[in-house]
Amino acid sequence: MKNQISKIQKIAIKEIGKVKSLEDLEKLKVKYLGRKSVLTDVLRSLKDLNPEEKKAIGEESNKTKQAIDLKLKEKEIEIRNKELKNIDEKERIDITYPCGQTKRGHLHPLTRVRYEIEEIFKSMGFLVVDGRDVEDEFHNFDALNMPKNHPARDMQDTFWLKDGAVPRTQTSSVQIRFMEKNKPPFRIVSIGTVYRNENSDATHEFNFHQIECLMVDKSGKITVANFKSVMSEFMKGLFGKETQTRLRPSYFPFVEPGFEFDASCPYCKGSGCKICKKTGWIELGGAGIVNQNVFTSVGFKEDEYEGFAFGFGIERLAMIKYGIDDIRLFHSGDLRFLEQF
Ligand code: PHE
Repeated sequence: MKNQISKIQKIAIKEIGKVKSLEDLEKLKVKYLGRKSVLTDVLRSLKDLNPEEKKAIGEESNKTKQAIDLKLKEKEIEIRNKELKNIDEKERIDITYPCGQTKRGHLHPLTRVRYEIEEIFKSMGFLVVDGRDVEDEFHNFDALNMPKNHPARDMQDTFWLKDGAVPRTQTSSVQIRFMEKNKPPFRIVSIGTVYRNENSDATHEFNFHQIECLMVDKSGKITVANFKSVMSEFMKGLFGKETQTRLRPSYFPFVEPGFEFDASCPYCKGSGCKICKKTGWIELGGAGIVNQNVFTSVGFKEDEYEGFAFGFGIERLAMIKYGIDDIRLFHSGDLRFLEQF
């Protein structure tokens, strides 16, 4: 039996010596020291021996166990050291390796137009400000000279929330929010989402974006001429230097006088085409000289200040700029559309 044990030890030491990986080493550990190891088998047969023999064999097998255990530990250190040496090579990062799989996204066409518009206004000294999507009736309507039961409220199909709040129907609410906190003189623009309860079609969405512009100073300092020049600079910046602008009289409760403004069609340069429905002009939005009731609603004294405001849809601008014929594409998430930009 002694012979058997020393044979096991020899074979074990030899096998451990040849091992190259930690996994294989673990397998040998189980094989020689585990509960079902060859050595355990030998020890199990001890019960048939007399006490002296038992003792002698027991000691022998313990020594063998220790020897195998020592060899295992030495081998483990040897393997780990080798791995550490190789790690520099194995985990080297090749920063020049081409990472072909990374797909880069890009800005949504609406975001691009938005940034472009903001840059044009910033270059004219305007401050870009933010409003809020969910408004109350005061900021969306009352303060803008649209009291309850005012027929002008019907101009905008409004979603109402249960608690009486309004997903804003126009960015004009930003005028009020800003003037509650800031006194003139100032010039601001704000771009954001507005919500209207209408059916979607190629030119209407219940959720779209508007830009609001407001410039206010002491009475007598701001006139329609200021508005026209800002408007014209803006259009030239967006659609090209040759772009013409024009005003038509119109009505919005928060301005007096009020206008709608058009830009000459950037496609046919005014001669008439499909985009401008053969008129040569593209209708853009509403504008006017701020109604004094708007100023008094934020606590300014009547006739102390004067200013202009205008607002219009961003989707429409993007559609004209990029020749897009269906507004619903913007929010479709369709990559075939988005990847064209
Ligand atoms: N808020 C108006 C609309 O949504 C546009 C507008 C803004 C008109 C500012 C005049 C002045 O139609």
